[in-house]
Amino acid sequence: MFKRISALVLAGLTAMSVASCGGGSGGSGGSGDGSITMGFAQVGAESGWRTANTKSVQDSAKNAGVTLKFSDAQQKQENQIKAIRSYIQQKVDVIAFSPVVESGWDTVLKEAKDAKIPVILTDRAVDSKDTSLYKTFLGSDFVEEGKKAGQWLVQEYKDAKDPVNIVELQGTTGSAPANDRKAGFAQVIGADPKFKVIASQTGDFTRAKGKEVMEAFLKSNPDIDVLYAHNDDMGLGAIEAIEGAGKVPGKDIKIITVDAVKDGMQALADGKINYIVECSPLLGPQLMDLAKKVVKGEQVPARVVTEETTFTQEQAKQVLSSRQY
Ligand code: AHR
Repeated sequence: MFKRISALVLAGLTAMSVASCGGGSGGSGGSGDGSITMGFAQVGAESGWRTANTKSVQDSAKNAGVTLKFSDAQQKQENQIKAIRSYIQQKVDVIAFSPVVESGWDTVLKEAKDAKIPVILTDRAVDSKDTSLYKTFLGSDFVEEGKKAGQWLVQEYKDAKDPVNIVELQGTTGSAPANDRKAGFAQVIGADPKFKVIASQTGDFTRAKGKEVMEAFLKSNPDIDVLYAHNDDMGLGAIEAIEGAGKVPGKDIKIITVDAVKDGMQALADGKINYIVECSPLLGPQLMDLAKKVVKGEQVPARVVTEETTFTQEQAKQVLSSRQY
């Protein structure tokens, strides 16, 4: 019932700092000894999801014998671009990165292509028209995640006659998950005019921002029925704001989030969140497999979609103890 990608499951090094882990001596794809060096430009450490994703990549590199050069961009595109340029200069065998935002990657991706270094997108997409700038994109279908959130809401309020007032905490502005989760959700609830998104603002995928924005929502909107947060962390921050305002999260205000990290699942099991759409961060093992293939020059699928599920409060109680992240 609960489908899942196979996987293993930290770190947050300062921007542009580079660390190595895993075996092998690294070097260019032409080193001849089969060893692979990967430059991985991570978004940051903004959420529980991201911490689990970093750990998955680092552990998987170690297990696969891939030398990993890791950088944390602290949610800034310019830091990611600098990291990618540094990997090009170091002549790594393959570059993988999770783009902070969708736009503005063509120049640096062209530099990697000219240097004959294959690029793998993980987790988030870019909007480059030229898809030859990267070999494959491994990650979730964020539009589908938004749709699943909307479908639960439509079902939950199927008998309601009054308007349903929704507030939305968006992820990082311009990022693929924020754009797509918003679009998928809007598509589903848009079919019934009783669903009204009365406020929608970014919480940058962080707990602190989620709390701050929810406090502002509560001040200006006395009749909020539903919160749709693009990730668990913002939802958890919002729960603090809701409780601070004397309301009961999960009852006075129904909450839907995305990710299904442990803290989110705990809040779901405790009845403070009503529904979570899973987004798996355990991309490391598949990333290492794809990296080995592209370095060897083998064909790989242009898109590898992560398998994911959804959780109700009852389901969260059943699986909580076995969650890996
Ligand atoms: O790109 C995946 C998103 O980024 C996760 O849903 C969110 O928690 C993270 O920060």
